Amino acid sequence: MTVRASAPGKAILFGEHAVVYGKPAIAVAVDKRASVTIREGSNDHIQVKIPELNVYGVINTETGDVSQLNSEGEVDQKPGTTDVGIMKFIKSALSQTDLGSSLDHGLDITVNLEIPIGAGLGSSAAITIATLAAAARYKGQELSLENLAQMGHQVELEVQGAASPLDTTVSTLGGFLYFTRERGAVRIKPALEMPLVVGYTSQPGNTGILVEGVRKLRQAHPTIINPLLDVMEKLTNQARESITRGEEKQVGELMNINQGLLDALGVNTTELSRLVYHARRAGATGSKLTGAGGGGSIIAYCPGKTREVLEELESVENAFQVGISSKGVTW
Ligand code: PMV
Repeated sequence: MTVRASAPGKAILFGEHAVVYGKPAIAVAVDKRASVTIREGSNDHIQVKIPELNVYGVINTETGDVSQLNSEGEVDQKPGTTDVGIMKFIKSALSQTDLGSSLDHGLDITVNLEIPIGAGLGSSAAITIATLAAAARYKGQELSLENLAQMGHQVELEVQGAASPLDTTVSTLGGFLYFTRERGAVRIKPALEMPLVVGYTSQPGNTGILVEGVRKLRQAHPTIINPLLDVMEKLTNQARESITRGEEKQVGELMNINQGLLDALGVNTTELSRLVYHARRAGATGSKLTGAGGGGSIIAYCPGKTREVLEELESVENAFQVGISSKGVTW
């Protein structure tokens, strides 16, 4: 039997980090996806292949140990940390659905990725949601979207530590979402086009470490950081209104202000700043880092200037245009 599922990556337009403290965020699913194929294995173990990253791993079904293989099929003694990280998400997703321990045969799992890793575009959430959906399908288990998003969040908590359910929710549902921890996701109907360009640095950001850094800063300076998080909440709410009213200029301005606030939280970097200013110079109405920061990506909102911004960012780092995808997980 062969089953397949896929889920989109996401881009956060407003409210990252603040969302960890119960504040709202606005995020979109992007037209870049992770696809997971599961088929009966050629041996007793779970073999994972991620061709786009040249990652080949094995999960030992008896011990749960994860090892990475090199191109000769031998255990790689020095695997990249990002690659090991992805394997942990897959392993945790399989154990959430009990797949792996409940079978009398191994599994061959292939992950195909259109989303760059560690770029703040939700690649781990997309891999997690697609793995959960494919694993449930393999077992013939019915899962609601709500269950799937919840299980995805558990996986992120287990592997990454502190995380809000934002990434896994967007990856499950797709579309343009306003999200709070308390109320979950509400769909937004934008009254404007959202031409977006992503620029990504070659240095991936580590979400767990960055979230922890903000937690420590808040602990050290609560009277400064708490009001800052309150301002981020106001900003995201205002952005929601501007998006639904079609106020292009305001959306851009609010993105720029959000960038300043994220810098104050300590998650900006010189490389991200550079991209942010290059995008604005090329005509972006607004630009900011997106996701956890510390590396990863910026997102630029560039009505009428997509080509200019794309070319400018490509001259400095990697860049691509992203479309908003209404399609969440499919299986
Ligand atoms: O870097 P990403 O794509 O994992 O986004 C992280 C978003 C944060 O708000 C910083 C953390 C979270 O779990 O919401």
